Amino acid sequence: MKYSDKVMDHFLHPRNVGEIEDATASGTVGNPTCGDIMRIDLKIVDGIIEDAKFMTFGCGSAVATSSMATEMIKGKSVDEALELTNKAVAEALDGLPAVKMHCSVLAEQAVKKALLQYYQDNDLLTDEIREKFGDLDEDAHDESEDEDLPGLKNQ
Ligand code: FES
Repeated sequence: MKYSDKVMDHFLHPRNVGEIEDATASGTVGNPTCGDIMRIDLKIVDGIIEDAKFMTFGCGSAVATSSMATEMIKGKSVDEALELTNKAVAEALDGLPAVKMHCSVLAEQAVKKALLQYYQDNDLLTDEIREKFGDLDEDAHDESEDEDLPGLKNQ
């Protein structure tokens, strides 16, 4: 399988790895098929994402897309970050092999899940914004998977 130089760069030298201790919001998602898990922490001040970090227990494409996704949303407003798509992340990495596109979906969902928490906590979830979260809104109050994730800290 051929990966772009950018994918390899973000896989071998991922940006923004780790946790934010005083994170404003966090999103953890998993892909039931491959079992990969991704968590993104956001530090949001006055609606601006001041910091974003990730931990990914998964494949190289999942690591590269989380790295790129965190880079793309840092400094953006929450509304701008909400427009992030997995396609945009993949394009910023100069593409992903077709069978690896689902890995970039994980990055989009992890960002969205963290943003959903922020919108909910701050009573900003209008119907229009709720639509942008799609299915993620349904289990938004289920914090169980955000607790201890075995293996996540082994990165
Ligand atoms: S193979 Fe599952 S996220 Fe990449």
